[in-house]
Amino acid sequence: MQTQVFLVDKDKPNRKILEKAAAILTGGGLVAFPTETVYGLGANGLDAEATGGIYRAKGRPSDNPLILHIAEQAALQQLVTTITPSAKALIDQYWPGPLTVVLPRAAIIPDVITGGLDTVAVRMPDSVVARELIALAGVPIAAPSANTSGRPSPTSAQMVITDLGGKIDAVIDAGPCTVGVESTVVDCTTPVPTLLRPGGITLEMLIATLGAVDIDQALMTKEAIPRSPGMKYTHYAPQAPMTLLEGQPDKVAEALRQQVDKAIAEGKTVGAVVSQETAVHLNPAVKAAIYGLRCDAATIAANLYAALRYFDEQPVDVIFAEGISEKGLGLAVMNRLRKASGHRTIRA
Ligand code: TXA
Ligand code: MG
Repeated sequence: MQTQVFLVDKDKPNRKILEKAAAILTGGGLVAFPTETVYGLGANGLDAEATGGIYRAKGRPSDNPLILHIAEQAALQQLVTTITPSAKALIDQYWPGPLTVVLPRAAIIPDVITGGLDTVAVRMPDSVVARELIALAGVPIAAPSANTSGRPSPTSAQMVITDLGGKIDAVIDAGPCTVGVESTVVDCTTPVPTLLRPGGITLEMLIATLGAVDIDQALMTKEAIPRSPGMKYTHYAPQAPMTLLEGQPDKVAEALRQQVDKAIAEGKTVGAVVSQETAVHLNPAVKAAIYGLRCDAATIAANLYAALRYFDEQPVDVIFAEGISEKGLGLAVMNRLRKASGHRTIRA
């Protein structure tokens, strides 16, 4: 299959082009499209067969449920049996945006979407391209991140092509994503809402709106079984084993420098995922993917997956990654780095 590439402007997408893409979706095809977080791989969310194609193209385990994407708040009603007060409060504040709510599912939703759960995850993206596409399709669009399962999510159309070129009907290219990490997933069916996946809406923002938020234990320890099925899989992994260094910034930078020197002395080709400040002090033989300034979690989030994918073209034997503070977007960044490193961490 030849994957078509549709180029559109991110703020004023050409309607004719989006109509073509929407027709592919309503015809049962697969179209990757940009959102503010990452590129998604879309299919008609009410069509079990079309949605099955998503799992095949990605190589995704079938027990990992999909997020349904809608273009307006009113579309939520037909997808769930109740909108709990916590969901209502979050939606009023953060939709459209990088927030996914989990609610009791309505009967019209195919089992293939929910992986057999009695809940469904729904989000209304902020991206104009995404919302206009969904509105033109006239159905909720099921869309996981448009990567091969286990790989870092794509934040550009080129990354989608690298993983899924030839396996999907089309990709809409509207340039790089602004947030860079996936949406925050919140289970709104529990008495106190539970954070299942940290993402573009920060924990601090959730607490400001809700007062109290539980955190899925699996986010804190690697032993607990996550309640968000997708969180149990190794994920975001670059193409060489990665070790994450965590702790005080200065100690992390120093420990990372030592690890790099040691590995180079052992004759290894070494990669590093690091801040600008740390990069300048590293052995010049290192292949460095710089994610931004240490204190700028928003820029680090936006650059994170490109940094992990940098080692696709620059093969290395080992990678060391510099951890950052878990404040704000740092919590999502550190969650992804821990998963990308398979929890291989060093406390500096
Ligand atoms: O930002 C995003 O959310 C992107 C863009 C494309 O919208 N999508 C995305 O989808 O990240 P995906 O499939 O890569 O991640 C969906 C996450 C998985 O961890 C999945 O297990 C969880 O949401 N999830 C989906 N339905 C769920 C449910 N009913 N209960 C708990 N977790 C659920
Ligand atoms: Mg994903």
